[in-house]
Amino acid sequence: MRSDSKIYVAGHRGLAGSAILRRLRAAGYTNIVTRTHAELDLIDQTAVHSFFERERPECVFLAAGKVGGILANNTYRAQFIYENIAIQSNVIHGSFRAGVSKLLSLGSSCIYPRACPQPIKEEYLLTGPLEPTNRPYAIAKIAGIEMCWSYNRQYGTKYLCAMPTNLYGPGDTYDLQSSHVLPALIRKFHEAKVRHEVTVPIWGTGSPLREFLYSDDMAEACVFLAQLDRDQLSTILNDSQPPLVNVGCGEDHSIRELAELIKEVVGCKAQLSWDHSKPDGTPKKQLDVSKLSSLGWKARTSLPQGLRLAYEDFLARGAAFRA
Ligand SMILES: NC(=O)c1ccc[n+]([C@@H]2O[C@H](COP(=O)([O-])OP(=O)(O)OC[C@H]3O[C@@H](n4cnc5c(N)ncnc54)[C@H](OP(=O)(O)O)[C@@H]3O)[C@@H](O)[C@H]2O)c1
Repeated sequence: MRSDSKIYVAGHRGLAGSAILRRLRAAGYTNIVTRTHAELDLIDQTAVHSFFERERPECVFLAAGKVGGILANNTYRAQFIYENIAIQSNVIHGSFRAGVSKLLSLGSSCIYPRACPQPIKEEYLLTGPLEPTNRPYAIAKIAGIEMCWSYNRQYGTKYLCAMPTNLYGPGDTYDLQSSHVLPALIRKFHEAKVRHEVTVPIWGTGSPLREFLYSDDMAEACVFLAQLDRDQLSTILNDSQPPLVNVGCGEDHSIRELAELIKEVVGCKAQLSWDHSKPDGTPKKQLDVSKLSSLGWKARTSLPQGLRLAYEDFLARGAAFRA
């Protein structure tokens, strides 16, 4: 990518997309195109195709999608599969029609089988049953990977799929009905602190192990991937495997450990109260990031450091955060 290459960031106001936009600007890219959801509904195929024909970007970061935590995924199953398939289908095919040379589509670590060996290698895709609570979302994301791979094989495109682990950072969603575990805990501990509550109820046993990546680190990895040259790309793009790269920090933490860390960062004195009647989800989820490390990228924000930055952002946005 040249510094004046036209780059479209889809979903630029979301957690992942806003981090990619910040990273591109910081790296000196000056010709960035964005559209809000209200300006361009990515589910509308006609609108998306005419947008691509008009703008003709050279590079696309696909960070738009219907995203949520376990409750939202399990409740809005139809919306999760329909909206994610439609968005990907329109953006990937629209990109191809407009001659986009580089596309990086964001997926998620939940595309991998529920019980696959840990840490999770890219090659474990489609080797076993998925976690039932987010199966519609995972299948939509798998369809996106298959699309990129198929376009690469049939049309010779160079479309990549980055699979980030759980993200957190500036611009996260703190609505308790739809948020992921980390932002939900930030909000719960903050509210418990200001209301002087004595306990904070938390779903599950606290034993599941999860990996968390600061969104700016994820964005750095995505821009790094988009900047790879033909030789470097050949290790990811070949006919024998999907064009997948795991993006994580390579270490996991128990939910209990995470909750204790957030409690400390927030400065909350309440006790944790674990609700064992609620589901834990997959016992352990950690990505094998050796493919990305071998290309030369490594995450740099530690969890305590990232949590302090995320809490500062939560406080700075105050009532304006998307609840
Ligand atoms: N959050 C995570 O932990 C995580 C982890 C791994 C991978 N990812 C991936 O990153 C991508 C983005 O996730 P996120 O966490 O950044 O989600 P997010 O904060 O909810 O942002 C989603 C973005 O998509 C846009 N969007 C949704 N539906 C749209 C539509 N029909 N037309 C146009 N824009 C639409 C939203 O626009 P509005 O704000 O205007 O509605 C928003 O900008 C997802 O595809 C997900 O697979 C996220």
